[in-house]
Amino acid sequence: MSLTFIDNAPLKALNTFGMDVRAAHFVRLTDLADLPALLASQPYRQGPVLWLGGGSNLLFTRDYPGLVVQVALSGRKLVADQGESVLVEAAAGENWHDWVRYTLTQGWFGLENLSLIPGSVGASPVQNIGAYGVEVKDTLTEVLCADLDQGGRLVTLTNAECAFGYRDSVFKHAGGQRYLVCAVRFRLSRAPHVKTGYGDIERELRTLPSWPTPTPGDVSQAVINIRKAKLPDPRELGNAGSFFKNPVVPQALADALAGAHPSLPRYPAGPGQCKLAAGWLIEQAGFKGHRQGDAGVHERQALVLVNYGAASGSEIHALAQAIQAEVERRFGVRLSPEPVII
Ligand code: EPU
Repeated sequence: MSLTFIDNAPLKALNTFGMDVRAAHFVRLTDLADLPALLASQPYRQGPVLWLGGGSNLLFTRDYPGLVVQVALSGRKLVADQGESVLVEAAAGENWHDWVRYTLTQGWFGLENLSLIPGSVGASPVQNIGAYGVEVKDTLTEVLCADLDQGGRLVTLTNAECAFGYRDSVFKHAGGQRYLVCAVRFRLSRAPHVKTGYGDIERELRTLPSWPTPTPGDVSQAVINIRKAKLPDPRELGNAGSFFKNPVVPQALADALAGAHPSLPRYPAGPGQCKLAAGWLIEQAGFKGHRQGDAGVHERQALVLVNYGAASGSEIHALAQAIQAEVERRFGVRLSPEPVII
């Protein structure tokens, strides 16, 4: 394989918000053997550089002035079979949901609650993606990376070295940005241990004939049904999933807010800390279903900002800032955006 650089490349099809922006230079990386040439290329050395996965967690507010690299490394493999469990690997460019469905067809269980999350396998540890009571860190054993500060030398980061937190990892912080995620390894179980504790899942599973003994495939289907009912499909309505993280606040603030608003959803988040539902705060602030031109707040899930067609990234960003200001004014809580804003 070789590298084909494109100048002034359109990015509309490569970001799920559907922003019609361009990159000064663009290249697809389909083979790791091409990485040294990429790192030595003029557009890379000139910078800036943006590594792109599925484009499902970013908002472009302008054309990108440097090089966009689409990480399109492919491959799935069984690394080791330990009877009860398997060690399996997927390359960074694999589509996340296709990977989850593939593991289920192989009888490898543990990723079913993470069905239908948009994006690529390579982005999954960066964000520590999570849904319905499960996070990627629960089954991830290690991440195979190229160290960009050392000419692309391959290094392995263990789960602990990834320093996972809620929608957080080493890859989001200064020290970890030298690592390009190339492949991710998971330890999955051959025995089903379904996690149905998250309220919506149980309600959905109860409608299936297999209840009360749902299979991991049933859990996957339940998650797909819930996500389809609540979350807009990026192919139909541009969005980047939850636009804000659920805020973690001091217990005292959560208690005070709950006193004034008894329906406030609250979740334990470590000693003296409490996680609030950003979607609830945004809905209470009056923004659910709100629309400013083609920028809007989804009508079934207030955490999701949507592009009704021709919104610019700046318009989406302005709406996000208006939401932050109003939520802070009403509740004294500052919401942090989840996607990368460029
Ligand atoms: N809520 C509202 N109004 C809304 C949305 C939510 O009042 O418009 C309330 C719900 O009634 C519920 C609480 O907020 O009491 C939590 O809502 P939900 O279960 O829908 O989940 P979430 O906290 O809004 C998080 C993740 C989602 C993930 C779901 C399910 C974050 C930022 N978001 O949303 O992840 O699918 O839980 O586990 O943590 C994503 O990150 O892109 C994403 C979609």
